[in-house]
Amino acid sequence: MADTMTPDHFSDVTRLDGIEADCWRLLQAAVQDRSCGWRLPALATFLNNEVRQRTVVLRKVNVQSRRIFVHTDIRSPKYNSILSNPNVSWLFYDAARQVQLQLTGPATVHTDADIADRIWRDEPESSLRAYLAPHVPGSVRPAPESNLPDDVEQRIPERDELSTARANFAVISCEVGAADWLLLRPNGNLRARFTYEAGAVSTIDWLAP
Ligand SMILES: Cc1cc2nc3c(=O)[nH]c(=O)nc-3n(C[C@H](O)[C@H](O)[C@H](O)COP(=O)(O)O)c2cc1C
Repeated sequence: MADTMTPDHFSDVTRLDGIEADCWRLLQAAVQDRSCGWRLPALATFLNNEVRQRTVVLRKVNVQSRRIFVHTDIRSPKYNSILSNPNVSWLFYDAARQVQLQLTGPATVHTDADIADRIWRDEPESSLRAYLAPHVPGSVRPAPESNLPDDVEQRIPERDELSTARANFAVISCEVGAADWLLLRPNGNLRARFTYEAGAVSTIDWLAP
């Protein structure tokens, strides 16, 4: 049970291995906990000499492989951006705990049966409705609109109404290569960096905040 509990604070800020484990515990908890700031990270991508950031919902965390997962529309610019340049950066800030986490690593986009189909099946209809969007996300429109079909604008669609939406749905995963942790404290901030290779901790260091 301890693994899914939200730590109120980092349990022992004198031990780097404990901080590293608490970071992943808090990421895992953030998937379920709407009050946790780490649930809504900014995802940054880089393409054609341009950095773009956007807020996303953290949907899944695999601690064993040090991978994180979010969902997106394959028609959104970030999808092609990641295909062209998979090196992404994530910024998490939990204002209540006053803790920032920056993650970097290669991202992969999944539309396949193995990953995307399974996640699609398990998601509630309410979070899949957006994938019925008739227009490419970010395309210019003549007037303000929700980009939802009229018949589902005021209600959550049934599962069988979502079949056309599946083609627009993708999962982005990222294998974290490095984490930079910063805890704000009245008596002095603390900062640490963790690097990973193939899902295992490779280096672990204190940094000057
Ligand atoms: C709170 C919040 C959560 C969001 N979650 C997601 C998400 O999980 N996936 C996603 O693709 N876009 C999400 N968005 C929309 C993105 O921030 C962005 O506007 C959209 O994906 C288009 O991004 P792009 O044009 O850079 O590809 C969210 C926006 C907000 C404000």
